[in-house]
Amino acid sequence: MKYLIALLLILNIGYCFVATKSPTPHSSAISLSQTFDNSLYNADEEVWTIVNDEYNRQFNGIELIASENFASKAVMEALGSCMTNKYSEGLPGARYYGGNENIDKIERLCQQRALSLFGLNVNEWGVNVQPYSGSPANFAVYTALLKPHDRIMGLDLPSGGHLTHGYQTAKRKVSATSIFFESMPYRVGALDGLIDYDELAKNAELFKPKLIIAGASAYPRDWDYKRMKEIANSVGSYLMADIAHISGIVATKQCNNPFEYCDIVTSTTHKSLRGPRSGMIFYKLEFEDLINNAVFPALQGGPHNHQITALAVALREAAAPSFRDYIKQVLTNAKALSNELIKRGYKVVTDGTDNHIVLWDARSTGLSGSKIEKILELCHISVNKNTVIGDTSAATPGGVRLGTPAMTTRGMKESDMELIAGLIHKATNLAIKIQSEEPNQSKKLVDFVKHMKNELYRDDINSITSEVHSLSKSFPLPGVKPSK
Ligand SMILES: Cc1ncc(COP(=O)(O)O)c(C=O)c1O
Repeated sequence: MKYLIALLLILNIGYCFVATKSPTPHSSAISLSQTFDNSLYNADEEVWTIVNDEYNRQFNGIELIASENFASKAVMEALGSCMTNKYSEGLPGARYYGGNENIDKIERLCQQRALSLFGLNVNEWGVNVQPYSGSPANFAVYTALLKPHDRIMGLDLPSGGHLTHGYQTAKRKVSATSIFFESMPYRVGALDGLIDYDELAKNAELFKPKLIIAGASAYPRDWDYKRMKEIANSVGSYLMADIAHISGIVATKQCNNPFEYCDIVTSTTHKSLRGPRSGMIFYKLEFEDLINNAVFPALQGGPHNHQITALAVALREAAAPSFRDYIKQVLTNAKALSNELIKRGYKVVTDGTDNHIVLWDARSTGLSGSKIEKILELCHISVNKNTVIGDTSAATPGGVRLGTPAMTTRGMKESDMELIAGLIHKATNLAIKIQSEEPNQSKKLVDFVKHMKNELYRDDINSITSEVHSLSKSFPLPGVKPSK
């Protein structure tokens, strides 16, 4: 390093000398390369430090956020490549800018890999790989298939649905989907937590939606796409599946296949599929022009070519037999985690899971999901609070969503899930104690968070945290490690 700095200084001094004496095009090229060829560390230590801290947080902690994963080094290299520099509005072979021969190649390759991964016949299906992420992909579908104020039905957010499937409250149109379209949700049953297809059929008959959406962000069971198609057919509606969470599971055929019944399938690419943050829209060919025109020019501008490049890499990784083994382990780990929580006396919504999600109904602990999220965060376990059926307020949800894709990528197996459940149990017991010792007997989250940081509990928190670190650090973190 010392020698490198010395060399850079010499070059720089040399350049200054030449530049002051006789500036030439050649010398200004040297100056450019000195500015732009610096590593992140040398160019901007402040940003490097934040990235490095985040790397360490990910490496030391236990990541149980169901929508997150760890992308590979190859995916990250593609994301950080020169493909980020290029404008390419339009589609392969029909761009609004010159110089796109390589961009055309990568986008076509990405499309081929996407169709092939999901076993789709190119005479029936096409795919647009340009959506910037899952939410824009969904909005592009609505823009393509619906007129303003047409009607849609998606799973209600408190039942596990996603915001973009039409979420609104009595007071507020929360999602743009509910601003521009008329939304009526369907729900899970109050007793069993399972999608109430009968109620969906009844309400669809009355509401006559133009689009029904299958798919969720916090639903631990598989989907009956056949039944949903029958309901859609009975009211003349399109059927779309948003497989953002489960696309890795669908790709490896470890769950029901939405492509058998749906007109459109959207997905993010960074969850169980383990790619870069991006989105895809698969469409039956009759919708090709509508979908492509909705993505561009209706909603987006230039495609993010570095994402498309990285997605092509991730799709190849997902086609390998090892990815199928990985997904099987994700599912096995989720079942193990669910069983371990049940063994410790906790309630899990639907009493188990078919996928990568364990939805923990924590209300019997007397703690809100938010308090459990906070104490686990203090112990370096990342989870998110989640509404569970029967919650009266979305502001204080009674559940916690746990997911296994990320830690399974790092190599964890069922026995590690047992250890994780044990750590969650310890932290939860500590949270119960902290709440009961809050000086004013306040049940407010702010007061809990303040009291949780009291000196009294430091040793207990430190002890759980060091157990978390020693477990987590024994599993490698894939990707690009920030270097100096
Ligand atoms: C089912 C579902 N659809 C869409 C999205 C939106 O994806 P993004 O956050 O990439 O916009 C999510 C994100 O969590 C999701 O769970």
